Amino acid sequence: MGNGGAVLRCAVFASGGGSNFQALIDRKNAGDLHVEFALLISNSSKAYACERARQNGIPAVHLSEKQFETFEAFSTRLMDLLDEYKVDLIILAGYMKKLPCELISKYRMKILNIHPALLPAFGGKGMYGKNVHQAVLDYGAKVSGVTVHFVDEEYDQGPVILQRTVPVLDNDDAETLAARVLTLEHDSYWRAVEAVAGGNVHIEGRRVAGEV
Ligand code: GAR
Repeated sequence: MGNGGAVLRCAVFASGGGSNFQALIDRKNAGDLHVEFALLISNSSKAYACERARQNGIPAVHLSEKQFETFEAFSTRLMDLLDEYKVDLIILAGYMKKLPCELISKYRMKILNIHPALLPAFGGKGMYGKNVHQAVLDYGAKVSGVTVHFVDEEYDQGPVILQRTVPVLDNDDAETLAARVLTLEHDSYWRAVEAVAGGNVHIEGRRVAGEV
């Protein structure tokens, strides 16, 4: 992608605790990740991700479709907000809400998501948080992991940027597996963001090639 050498301005979308958001902030502060965090958007004012933004001097905006009469009105405000903050790249970090189609279309290959399993298995509707890990255990899979992918109109189906694995252990429950995957998420997302922001990947059909 690249941006003529300028540092990309990112909006992070988060619904919950935002530990992935924090891991990105930490990598930026460590000098490993070269982006600007322009703002944090959350559908929940109580999300701890909002507090993390404030602690790090990043504007936090609570924006939910519930605040609007129609989904279209919500979508318009969201798009305006991204324009106001001159956002180049959108990073979904535990964002559990549907994105407007017009946003996906405007920011094509500029929206990243992290999913706590190896897509296309254990993805799609209802597959978020603990549900994912319970489904992996119920299936009896021997490995799970992390997928970072571009977001398109199909839920959890955009081109894959990065995948890494963890073992599923005999004595795992959803909580222990989630913790192992989350640790790997924290060490993975920044790598994918850095590769995309640095213009180190290119997309050929569904395949994302390059150094991540
Ligand atoms: C992460 O495990 C992320 O992969 C998952 O939600 C968690 C958010 O944790 N996302 C999904 O399930 C999306 N389908 P965090 O708020 O601590 O970053």
